[in-house]
Amino acid sequence: MLILGIESSCDETAASVIEDCRTIRSSVISTQIEEHRKYGGVVPEIASRRHCENILGVTRKALADADIELADLDGIAVTYAPGLIGALLVGVNFAKGLALASGKPLIPVHHIAGHIATNYLSHPDLEPPYLCLVASGGHSHIIEVLSYTKFRVVGRTRDDAAGECFDKCARAMGFPYPGGVHVDKAAQSGDAKAFKLPHPAVAGNEFDLSFSGLKTAVINMLHHAEQKGEDIDRNDLSASLQATIAEILTGKTMLAAEALGYKKIALAGGVSANSGVRAAMSEACAKRGYSFYMPEKSLCGDNGAMIGCQGSYNLMAGITADESLNAIATLSMDEI
Ligand code: KG4
Ligand code: ZN
Repeated sequence: MLILGIESSCDETAASVIEDCRTIRSSVISTQIEEHRKYGGVVPEIASRRHCENILGVTRKALADADIELADLDGIAVTYAPGLIGALLVGVNFAKGLALASGKPLIPVHHIAGHIATNYLSHPDLEPPYLCLVASGGHSHIIEVLSYTKFRVVGRTRDDAAGECFDKCARAMGFPYPGGVHVDKAAQSGDAKAFKLPHPAVAGNEFDLSFSGLKTAVINMLHHAEQKGEDIDRNDLSASLQATIAEILTGKTMLAAEALGYKKIALAGGVSANSGVRAAMSEACAKRGYSFYMPEKSLCGDNGAMIGCQGSYNLMAGITADESLNAIATLSMDEI
């Protein structure tokens, strides 16, 4: 089975061909990071325009790299939610056109389900059910993966996502967008105990997360130091911030795993590339005797392979769409 996966929900235009659910035949990513960096974040209007310009070339290359033609495909999978609406619309309409022209099934894929699926590409033995922490620029969720296509969100951020917290704090420290990876690098030479940063207190659902208090504390600390003409060591602050985010994410995931009886844990999303989060999660799982899965670093950020992989499982479960498929900016995984 050969599935084309198309992703355009944020600032990466990506396409990939996946064979038999788990083998990457090709993966092409055109990133717009350089252009958005000038503005310190993604400019939605620019993102849509670049997707429009790049999507055909990226898809052609994915098919050529896989050494196949449109006619060889068994389905065309596309991210339809959630994300920047203008960006999503480019991918959705392009995929609809391809499906119409080729007569192949159109397969809608939820972006977060795609992130979770990166673990199937990295670990041939992984099968549901398991508990997955998904942390990215726009989302921070603890999710029960009940089957390849059924999910239950057990915890979510009340405010900012973990990636957003990394990026906003990084920006205040003077790192370029997107700052998460720069914090990660700086943290390697910093002291994680140098700054005591707040952990969120969340009332209600004990598995919910919150990062806005931590973000505000870091930004205020930097502003106060600047006003007083004091220097803050960016390596130390990065290390302390990274350790705090890793502790929060790991602590909540372990709490949920224990309460719900999961012994199989996975990590996914852009923040899963973070060395502190990877280490904290694998250590916590090892300590409890849980098996732990995380995607290889090249699959952590947005890509087409994750959409092709999840699309393959969706197709097998009969999840397809007709030409009325629309893009949706906000859609909980509980609703799919
Ligand atoms: O999944 P993703 O590519 O896009 C969304 O779906 O949001 O995640 C992007 C996020 C950004 O916030 C980026 O700073 C963060 O993932 N990120 C990292 C690292 N690499 C990417 N955060 C911390 N450490 C990293 N090494
Ligand atoms: Zn993503």
